[in-house]
Amino acid sequence: MGCVKSSREITVKKQTLIESKTKEEKDENIGVKNFIKGPEKNLEDNYKILSKIGKGTFGKVYEVKNKKTNQIRAMKSIKKSENNEENEELLNEIEIMIKLEHPNIIKIYDYYVDKDNYYIIMEYISGGELLEYINKEKIFSERKTKIIMSQLLHALNYLHSNNIVHRDIKPENILIEKSKANYPFENELGINVKLIDFGTCYLLKNNNYLTLKVGSPYYIAPEVLKKKYNNKCDIWSSGVIMYILLLGYPPFNGTSEQEIFKKIKKGKIEKDTPEWRKISHNAQDLLSKMLKKL
Ligand SMILES: Nc1ncnc2c1ncn2[C@@H]1O[C@H](COP(=O)(O)OP(=O)(O)OP(=O)(O)O)[C@@H](O)[C@H]1O
Ligand SMILES: [Mg+2]
Repeated sequence: MGCVKSSREITVKKQTLIESKTKEEKDENIGVKNFIKGPEKNLEDNYKILSKIGKGTFGKVYEVKNKKTNQIRAMKSIKKSENNEENEELLNEIEIMIKLEHPNIIKIYDYYVDKDNYYIIMEYISGGELLEYINKEKIFSERKTKIIMSQLLHALNYLHSNNIVHRDIKPENILIEKSKANYPFENELGINVKLIDFGTCYLLKNNNYLTLKVGSPYYIAPEVLKKKYNNKCDIWSSGVIMYILLLGYPPFNGTSEQEIFKKIKKGKIEKDTPEWRKISHNAQDLLSKMLKKL
């Protein structure tokens, strides 16, 4: 008899961003035409690059040290495009992030521009990605899940009340800040989560629906796949994270992107499993609401 791997043993795989650009939305995107040109200062005068800590779709992330204060920071470099319109889109991330101020959102301190790249200087979070934490712990109790979800939802509430939709909520874009002796977090896990990666952010205007397919498999909402959505897509993605924390595997899975998307579009959570039956009615109810097709 063949051996069927228990769904609990499945490692949650890293998901890469998908983005299909349409001309219409590009034109509508945040007006950064009036963006003040980056400060006329030289990155190397102020920061020393220590090591590379991440590489994503849009840029590379380094650990850097401020030469004057010795403070450790993270620096995301984003390559300029030959297309000016695309450069404006890159500035979108900087413009949005620079204004944000929330304990569960990464703080951006400064930025630099040279002829090839944009460089964003932000706080450095050393505890790794939530994805690594999930793959180490495998499953979280409801008490622990509540700590993580409450922090994530506070960050989203802040973004959404500022009319910002993130569009790529996933454990790879959530970092873990650990308690320090002089700066303890008063929760059972001793952690504080920080949302990062604002490259896919969009400032919503006039309650219009968005039509650009942006997100990552596992987490992308059905309405995004149907290309008519608003900020509620972030709630769906958070529901997927909550499901993974409690049950240990993604609610919509498959061997190909098409298979995953087909299940997401159907939007039916498998309820006839021992893992689902094990979680409380309250948790089941909340998950059913967050993962409800609009
Ligand atoms: N402030 C930070 N402190 C520590 N690590 C960070 C920080 N910012 C980013 N990283 C690391 O670098 C990785 C890539 O960063 P980010 O998600 O911003 O880039 P990206 O190119 O947009 O990635 P993608 O589009 O693939 O999600 C993160 O997943 C994280 O591991
Ligand atoms: Mg990312």
